[in-house]
Amino acid sequence: MKALVLGGGGREHALVRALSLDPGVTDLHCAPGNPGTSDLADNHVLNVLDGLAVTQLAARIGAELVVVGPEAPLVAGVADALRERGIPVFGPDKEAARLEGSKAFAKEVMEAAGVPTARARVCRTPAQAAEALDAFGPPYVVKDDGLAAGKGVVVTTDRAAAEEHARACGRVVIEEYLDGPEVSLFVLTDGVHSVPLLPAQDFKRARDGDEGPNTGGMGAYAPLPWAPPGLTDEVMASVVDPTIAEMARRGRRYQGLLYVGLALTERGPRVVEFNARFGDPETQVVLDRLATPIGALLQATDTGGLGGAGALEWRPGAAVTVVVAAENYPGDPVKGDVVSGLDRVAAMDGAYVLHAGTAWSGARDVVSAGGRVLSVVGTGDTLERARERAYEAVGRIELRGAFHRTDIAAAAAAGA
Ligand code: AMP
Ligand code: GLY
Repeated sequence: MKALVLGGGGREHALVRALSLDPGVTDLHCAPGNPGTSDLADNHVLNVLDGLAVTQLAARIGAELVVVGPEAPLVAGVADALRERGIPVFGPDKEAARLEGSKAFAKEVMEAAGVPTARARVCRTPAQAAEALDAFGPPYVVKDDGLAAGKGVVVTTDRAAAEEHARACGRVVIEEYLDGPEVSLFVLTDGVHSVPLLPAQDFKRARDGDEGPNTGGMGAYAPLPWAPPGLTDEVMASVVDPTIAEMARRGRRYQGLLYVGLALTERGPRVVEFNARFGDPETQVVLDRLATPIGALLQATDTGGLGGAGALEWRPGAAVTVVVAAENYPGDPVKGDVVSGLDRVAAMDGAYVLHAGTAWSGARDVVSAGGRVLSVVGTGDTLERARERAYEAVGRIELRGAFHRTDIAAAAAAGA
């Protein structure tokens, strides 16, 4: 199979790596990719939001699978353009991707499908926002209605800050605060049959102890030793199947990946958010654990063969990823600093580096080029061992001004 991955972050490096390990994948391309993907795939310069350009590249290389990594091309209709040309694509059509692209639309679908989620109101004016904040009380949860790369959400007990965020965003969703540990569940679906991957947990706040601003994600681990048995089955039955069926009922067949962000509250699992693509950095650990070759699975979400895919196989043990972020992330990150020590991680067993926001400098050095620079993965028989390896590898890397969280998977590894 010839495959093309769109995107250039840590998630895409993980996807390229997983496809490179699939014996059925003979030819691998990535656009735009990054210095990490260039070791495993042919990188192409491309505007991934341009459906025509993507389709032309896919046709030129004879792609039999185009994997869309990030949400922006999905919302821009790139999957639609590929499907129109008969090129198999992993990712939902534009209308279906609104499950991620509009929080208000996601709430409407959940309500129609009877899916458990936070009570919410869509607000367009400061007066409406103030009324909703009064109704739900603190802690306040205020979400920009559009795409904001995980950074459009403010959760705060500070009333003025909540009102200010609502004013700055314009149209917002204000909702009830959900209390409980968060779980990310990724589900492959062809619009009829759905297959869950391993539940994972990510760490959204910038600093240790869940302090600091929300980010795209500072680390992740899988599996979750503390997850209640039957969690995946319960979420498939109460959330995924009704949502996929509701989309089909609306004539918006949902194909690709449904990312279910959950809070495990005292009243049971509640949906925090849907995304229309693999989560970053949870993908880095979930795909590390997947033993079933991934190419045919991703392709089956488009061609409709997922029903016959059988149960997935998982490697025993655990994986932890720690994100190395650039100075000032999640604000405007400092870029262009040399990343060194990658060879020292390559010499380790049970740890490796996935590139996220990196670029080649003129001198062929790897330099920082984004907020999340690297996603360092450690694996092991136990979560504790995986964690040790991830942090040992992080310790071998040097990047001026960089920071990382030191508590990724710490509580879970300690059995808390
Ligand atoms: P979202 O982009 O909707 O996933 O929100 C980003 C993060 O904000 C989530 O991962 C949660 O940590 C937090 N969050 C969002 N909605 C809620 C909620 N209703 N209650 C508590 N925390 C929330
Ligand atoms: N890890 C959160 C996200 O991908 O949105």
